[in-house]
Amino acid sequence: MTIANRLAFAACSVLAFASHAANAQQAPAVDMIKADARAGATVKQMTADEKVVLTNGIMPLPFFPGTVIPEGAVFGAGYIPGIPRLGVPVLTETDASLGVSWVGGIRKDGATALPSGLAQAATWNPQVMYDGGAMIGSEARAKGFNVLLAGGVNLMRDPRNGRTFEYLAEDPYLSGILVGAAIRGVQSNNIISTIKHFALNGQETGRKYVDVKITESAARESDLLAFQIGIEQGQPGSVMCAYNRVHGDQACASDWLLNKVLKQSWGYKGFVMSDWGAVPGVEAALGGLDQQSGAQLDKALFFGDVLKAKAASDPGYAAKLDDMNRRVLTAIYASGLDKNPAKTGGTIDFAKNAQVAELTAKQGIVLLRNKGVLPLAKTAKSIAVIGGYADSGVLAGSGSSLVQGPEGPAATRSLGGDSPFSALMQQNYHRSAPLTAIKAMAPGATVTFRDGRYIADAVEKAKQADVAIIFATEWRTEGLDQPDLSLPDGQDALIAAVAAANPNTIVVLETGGPVAMPWLDKTAAVIEAWYGGARGGQAIASVLFGETNPGGRLPVTFPASLDQLPRPKLDGADWVEPNFSGDPEPGKDQLHTDYDIEGSDVGYRWFARKGQKALFPFGHGLSYTTFESTGLKVKGMTASFTVKNTGKRSGDEVAQVYLVSRGGEAKQRLVGFQRVSLEPGAATTVSVKFDPRVLADWKNGGWSLAAGEYAFALGKDAEALSAPVKVKMAAKLWKD
Ligand code: BGC
Repeated sequence: MTIANRLAFAACSVLAFASHAANAQQAPAVDMIKADARAGATVKQMTADEKVVLTNGIMPLPFFPGTVIPEGAVFGAGYIPGIPRLGVPVLTETDASLGVSWVGGIRKDGATALPSGLAQAATWNPQVMYDGGAMIGSEARAKGFNVLLAGGVNLMRDPRNGRTFEYLAEDPYLSGILVGAAIRGVQSNNIISTIKHFALNGQETGRKYVDVKITESAARESDLLAFQIGIEQGQPGSVMCAYNRVHGDQACASDWLLNKVLKQSWGYKGFVMSDWGAVPGVEAALGGLDQQSGAQLDKALFFGDVLKAKAASDPGYAAKLDDMNRRVLTAIYASGLDKNPAKTGGTIDFAKNAQVAELTAKQGIVLLRNKGVLPLAKTAKSIAVIGGYADSGVLAGSGSSLVQGPEGPAATRSLGGDSPFSALMQQNYHRSAPLTAIKAMAPGATVTFRDGRYIADAVEKAKQADVAIIFATEWRTEGLDQPDLSLPDGQDALIAAVAAANPNTIVVLETGGPVAMPWLDKTAAVIEAWYGGARGGQAIASVLFGETNPGGRLPVTFPASLDQLPRPKLDGADWVEPNFSGDPEPGKDQLHTDYDIEGSDVGYRWFARKGQKALFPFGHGLSYTTFESTGLKVKGMTASFTVKNTGKRSGDEVAQVYLVSRGGEAKQRLVGFQRVSLEPGAATTVSVKFDPRVLADWKNGGWSLAAGEYAFALGKDAEALSAPVKVKMAAKLWKD
C-alpha cells in the first residue's frame, strides 16, 4: 500500500465512525396536494347538514353536564363525528407532544412518557424526534385515536412561561426542523398530527386575552418561521390556533395569521382547529378557523347550527364552509384515516417504547458544569443522594400534556386548590427512581437517601459521603407561569449548604426550563436532566456513571438574571389567576405584551444584541471527551468543516454554525447544526445547507437578502465562537 493509499484508507475508517443525525430514517411526509383534490370531490357530495359535522366537536369526557358521550368515543381531548354515508371517519383526538395523555386516569390505561419537549430538543437530533413521534403515534393508534394534538413549537420568549417544558427551543430554525421530524413520525402511523399553538402564545398568564404586539417582519423571522419550517418538514394535517390575541384579534379568528399568512402566503392545505375554549364567535370562520374543538369550553356552539344558518344566507360563509370541509377532509385523506382506521385495543410493547424514551432522555441530558468529578467511578464507596423525590421517580410537568405509565404515577404531591382544575395542581413523578438506578450502577457503594426537607440532616449525610448528589426539582404546569427563576421549597439554600459541606457535590436539575443557580460556583458538577419521562432515572444514572457520554445541548438560554430579559417583569404577573381557565378577571381584560422590544431577536439573539453574558448560553453542553471543530468554509449556501474527537472517550458533538454579522453589522442567528458521534481520535467532515430565510429579513411582503458581506462562525455555543469566515452574497428577493 502506498503512503497516499494508507492515508486515504485511514481517513475512510475514521469517517466510518461518524454517524449523522441528518441522514434520518424517516417516512416521507404525507401528500396534501393529492388529498386536496379528492377532498374537493367529496365536498361536492355533502348536504347542508353534513357540512357542519366536521366543523365542530366536543370533549368526550363525563365531566360536563348535558354532554352525551357518543358510542365509540374514546375518553380524551376531542371527538368529531364522521359521515358514514361518505366514508368519512370519526375523529378521535388526544394530547400530546410527550405521549398519549393521562386525562386524570379516566381511561384507566397508561402510555409511554417521553421526556419533556426541552429535553427532546436538547438532543438536537431530528432522528430522535422522529422516533419519539412515531412511538407516540403508534400508542395513540393502539388506543383508538387518529388525531394527536402534538407539535408544540412556540418559541421560548420568556423563561418563566409555564409551558416551556412542552415546547422545544428559542430558535426558529432548530424548533422548525425538530418539530417537523416529530410530526412526520407521528403521521407515519396513519394518524393526523397538529402543530400548535399558532401563534405567539408566549405566556400562560392571561393566556386567553393577552394581546401581542409584533411587527410582521419580526414575527416572520421568529415565531412564524418556526411554524413555517415545521409545516414544510412535517406536513401536519392540522394547525391548532392559540388562546392569545394578536393585534387585538383572538389568534383563532385572526385573518392575518390564519388566512393571510398560513393559508395564502404558505399555501397550507390542511385545517385549523381551535384550542379548547379559544373561539370567540361564528365570525372566526371568516377569520380562517375551520373547526371548533371542545365546544363545551366556549360560550356557545358556533360552528354547528349557527354556522349552517349563516351559510344558508350569506355566500361568503357558504364558500368558507366548503373550504373548511375540504381542509378537514384533506388531512383525513392525506394521512389515510379512512383506509387504515385506528382501533381501540391494539397492543403496545411498553418495554420497547420505554427504550425510545430512555434514548431520548440520554441524548437530551445536558452537562452544564463539571469540575472533574464526573463521570463517577462504578467503584465509588459512599454516595449521599438528597432531595427531589429521587427515591420515587422523576418529575413530570402538568396540564393537558401529562402522561402516566400503565401503573400510574410513582408519587403525587398535591398543591391544593378547589377549582375544577385542582387535579392539575398536582406534581406527578414517573416510576423511574434515580436512587434505584444509582444503586444499580454502583453495587459496591453505600448509598444513603435523605429527602432534603431538613438541611442539617442532609448536610450531615453529605459530610459522611465521598460524593453528594442533590436532585433539585422545579415543577411547571400549563395554565400558570413561574414567578421567577428560583428553585422552590428552599432548595437553593439546601444546595448551598450541602455544597459547602462536601466539595464533591453534584446537582441534578429536573426543571421545566431555565432556573437561576446562586450556588453554582460551590458545586463540583451540574446536570440538566429536564423532566426525564418513563426512564428518566436510568438515563440520569447512565450519564452520572459515564455509560452515556452527555451530548445534549441547551435549546434555550439560561439567563443570569431576570434583568437580562426583554421584559424583566412578566406582563400581567401581578394579576395571575390561579384557576387555569385564563379567563379575564372582571374589569381586567386588557393585558398587552410588546414583542417588538426584542422583535425577532429572541433568546440568544437578544443576548448578543445587548452584549449580555448568560448564565449558560444557548447551545451549551459539556462532554466527557473533547471536540475540535475547524476549517470552516462557506460556499454559496453551504458551510463545511471538520469535527474531531480529541479526547479519550467516544461521544457526541453538536456542531453549530452561526451567522455573526451582515454587512459589517453584528447579527447572530443559528444557521446550521448537526449532531455527530465520534470515536476517540476520529474526525468527520460536516456540511450544512443554510435555509436562506434564516439569513434574510422579511421586508415589504417578502424575504430580502441584502447584497454584501456575511460572516459565519463555528460555535461551541452561542457565545463561544470561532474566528469568523466572511463571504460575499448577492442580493435576492423572494416570496414564500
Ligand atoms: C391546550 C392544548 C391542548 C388542548 C386539549 C388546551 O388547554 O392549550 O395544548 O391540546 O387543551 O387538551
